[in-house]
Amino acid sequence: MEIQGQAAIVTGGASGLGAATAHLLAQRGMKVFAFDLAPSIEKAPAVDHVEYLDVDVTDHASIRRGIATVKAGTEPLRVVVNCAGIGTPGRILSRRGPHDLHQFAQVINVNLLGTFNVMTLGAELIAEQQPVDDDGQRGIVINTASVAAFEGQIGQAAYAASKGGVHSLTISAARDLASYGIRVNTVAPGIVETPMMAGITPEFRESLEASVPFPARLARPEEYAQVVLDLIRHDYLNGHTVRMDGALRMGPR
Ligand SMILES: NC(=O)c1ccc[n+]([C@@H]2O[C@H](COP(=O)([O-])OP(=O)(O)OC[C@H]3O[C@@H](n4cnc5c(N)ncnc54)[C@H](O)[C@@H]3O)[C@@H](O)[C@H]2O)c1
Repeated sequence: MEIQGQAAIVTGGASGLGAATAHLLAQRGMKVFAFDLAPSIEKAPAVDHVEYLDVDVTDHASIRRGIATVKAGTEPLRVVVNCAGIGTPGRILSRRGPHDLHQFAQVINVNLLGTFNVMTLGAELIAEQQPVDDDGQRGIVINTASVAAFEGQIGQAAYAASKGGVHSLTISAARDLASYGIRVNTVAPGIVETPMMAGITPEFRESLEASVPFPARLARPEEYAQVVLDLIRHDYLNGHTVRMDGALRMGPR
């Protein structure tokens, strides 16, 4: 699908993988609406053709307001990329007792329900656009899981469950939205170099890098953005989860 002159929504678009994606899509001629929380937006750089909107993906009314702003713009919405996510660790049972249920629900709420809600309301607007090709394609949704969807580590129960949900949703959503000409794919990254990684010790970094078969380094946010662009461009990729992990298979810890 050609993206020049079209609009995209990128949630979590003020930081990390979302920011790299927002920047790449804007460079390639899209008008990008970066949905994120105010504290992240305040730290984000001004980038041409990227408009930051204070949208909480756990709040239905907030997403609706964001989508209304997108709809009021001149470029038709074609692309929704869900990157907003949190990863609060916690074991199911530890010396401190059972897993805090509220904390589990919060991770599901942001990562799975937030993704579902932005996808759903975004698809509603994409479905209003004219098809762009003879197949009747109108647009694409790309969600973000994690290799934890398949190999959740110790202390990742909530995160793994949320990302497993995002992965499982992919084929169902692709089938549901097929009649509107909307493709749905998911990216499951391994370990990516984001601001979060800046504080780790050189020893821990080395052990993380050594766990990746090839290339034996952390992935770059720009490499995630490149997968998003490849998925947008390839009209026959649908209902698919792409692992972007250098052949990493996570161990228990
Ligand atoms: N960095 C990695 O190694 C890695 C690996 C696998 C998967 N992922 C996934 O990729 C996505 C992006 O991760 P990242 O490393 O760029 O993280 P990040 O913390 O740099 O960015 C996440 C962004 O999401 C935003 N966000 C959080 N809750 C939100 C909400 N309720 N509403 C709107 N925005 C909200 C944050 O403000 C932040 O700007 C996440 O879903 C994460 O689980 C990351």
